[in-house]
Amino acid sequence: MLTPRPRTPLQYRKWLAGSYLPRLVASSVMHRRPIVDACGSKPESQLVEDLARINLLRPTEFCRVMTRFGSDKGRRWHNYTAIYAVLFAGYGRSARVFELGLGTNNPGLVSSMGSTGRPGASLRGWRELFPEGSIFGADIDRGILFQEPRIRTFYCDQLDQTAIAALWAEPALADGMDILIEDGLHTFEANLSFMAGSLEHVAPGGTYVVEDIESRALPAWRSMLRDLAARHPDFEFVLLELPNPANQQDNNLLVARRDRERLGRPRRGLNRRSAAPDGRRR
Ligand SMILES: C[S@@+](CC[C@H](N)C(=O)[O-])C[C@H]1O[C@@H](n2cnc3c(N)ncnc32)[C@H](O)[C@@H]1O
Repeated sequence: MLTPRPRTPLQYRKWLAGSYLPRLVASSVMHRRPIVDACGSKPESQLVEDLARINLLRPTEFCRVMTRFGSDKGRRWHNYTAIYAVLFAGYGRSARVFELGLGTNNPGLVSSMGSTGRPGASLRGWRELFPEGSIFGADIDRGILFQEPRIRTFYCDQLDQTAIAALWAEPALADGMDILIEDGLHTFEANLSFMAGSLEHVAPGGTYVVEDIESRALPAWRSMLRDLAARHPDFEFVLLELPNPANQQDNNLLVARRDRERLGRPRRGLNRRSAAPDGRRR
C-alpha cells in the first residue's frame, strides 16, 4: 500500500497545482470509466447507470477534502472520491457515516498506514463533507481511538462476530448508517465477516462500501455477488473496478445500496433507469 504523508498546507497546495488542476483540465477531454459488474441481479438500475458514467480522471471536492486531511482515498493510488462524489451526493448535510479502519500508524499492525499515516484522517474528511453529520469509526487498534465534536470511535475486531455485535449494540450507533464504509483488514474473509454482522445496520436508502478489494480477489467476489443478492433482496450489489495505471493491485470497490421503496418512502439521490442485461458496463 502506498503510504500517505501528512498534508501540510504547502504539500496540499503543491498537490492542487501539480495534480488536481491539471487533472481538472485534462478530464474535460479525457475520460476513464469504471468497470461496473452488477451481476445482472437488477435489470433496471439507475445506480449502475450513474456509476458507469463517472469519469475517474475528474477530481472532485471529495478528492480535495480527503487529501487535505491526509487520507489516500482520492490522490493517485485510489480513485474512490470520484465515485463517492456521485454515490453519496443525495445524503444531505446531516448524513450518518460510519467507517471501519481509522488508519493506524503503528507499523507493527496489519493494514497500517505506516509511521507517517494520520489516524482519523478520513473521519475528519467526512465531518467536513457532511457539516451537520454524525461521524463514527472503529478500529482494532485501541491506541488510536478518539472522540471529537461530531466524531465518535469504538473498538472492533472485524474477524470477531462478538466484537461486531458489541459495536452495533452501542446506543450511539442504534439508528443505522446512511454511509457505512469498510476500510479495515482487506482480506476476503475479513470483508465477509464484517459485512455479515453489519449490513443490517445500513439505513433504508443507505450505502455499504468495501474498499481496497485486491484485484486477485475479484473472481471470488464475482462468484459471491449472486449469492449476496439472493440473501439480501433489499440490497443492490455492484462490483467496481477502477482502472488506474498507478494501481492495478487494489483499486476496487464493492457497493451495496439498500432499497428505500420497501418502506414506502421516496428514494433519495440516485433513481432507477436502465442497465445492460448482463449488468456489466464499461
Ligand atoms: C487502511 S487503514 C484505514 C485508513 C482510513 N480509513 C483512511 O482512509 O484514512 C486500515 C485500518 O484497519 C485496521 N484493522 C486491521 N485489522 C483490523 C481488524 N481485524 N478489525 C478492525 N480493524 C482492523 C488497522 O488498524 C488500520 O487502522
